[in-house]
Amino acid sequence: MSEIPIIAIDGLASSGKTSVSKLLSKKLKFYFLDSGILYRSIGYIHKLESIDLDSEKEVKNIINNIKLIPSKNLQFQVFYKNKDITNFLYSEEIGLQASIVSQYKSVRELLLLLQHSCVQSPGLIANGRDMGTKVFPKAKLKIYFIADLKIRANRRHKQLLESGTNSDLESITKMLRDRDNSDKDRTISPLKAADDAIIVDSSNLKLDTVLDKILELYKISEACNKWGIIN
Ligand code: DC
Repeated sequence: MSEIPIIAIDGLASSGKTSVSKLLSKKLKFYFLDSGILYRSIGYIHKLESIDLDSEKEVKNIINNIKLIPSKNLQFQVFYKNKDITNFLYSEEIGLQASIVSQYKSVRELLLLLQHSCVQSPGLIANGRDMGTKVFPKAKLKIYFIADLKIRANRRHKQLLESGTNSDLESITKMLRDRDNSDKDRTISPLKAADDAIIVDSSNLKLDTVLDKILELYKISEACNKWGIIN
């Protein structure tokens, strides 16, 4: 898997990683894979069609029907049985469902190939929970986002209200807390920072500041590569 540069961005739910990833993708003109949408897709499909998540055969059957196609803005969209399902995936309920299905070995292993297929020139911003630890351990740059739970819940609550969706701050806080715990406690590929990741606490940082810092780090890692310095 190549000289094509990959920036791995992992972290807690609603820690700002997706917003930063989108901006990075725009700035560097790299493709953008939000791997959460894959787990959300399985959660969504699992709700529609009852699948036995312990059965590798059934999970494989579902995943064979999933295609990732980049849109004009370079972000991969999910097609299931040739239908774009991306817009159905962003509710908190599907997020929780995604966190549950993500604990299954068959799901994680079978999604690996699909994620690897997203590495395309000129580069990839890969965002999720295990991009730096498991899916792209050789990524050029690894960032791990954390942020205070209350601040994340407020951000998410505001986003939902702005998009015209009903939201209750208390239940958003609970859902985020439950999701953090289930992502950190699962046995396979739990949410944790890679040893060589740079930790960013986005609680009190502006998006632009974080973006500038990451771009700076990326330029440094590129220069190190060019000069043959192992970073
Ligand atoms: O990033 P997100 O909120 O869209 O992710 C939804 C859930 O999917 C998350 O709670 C855990 C799971 N997930 C995962 O296990 N591994 C990833 N790389 C991305 C998401």
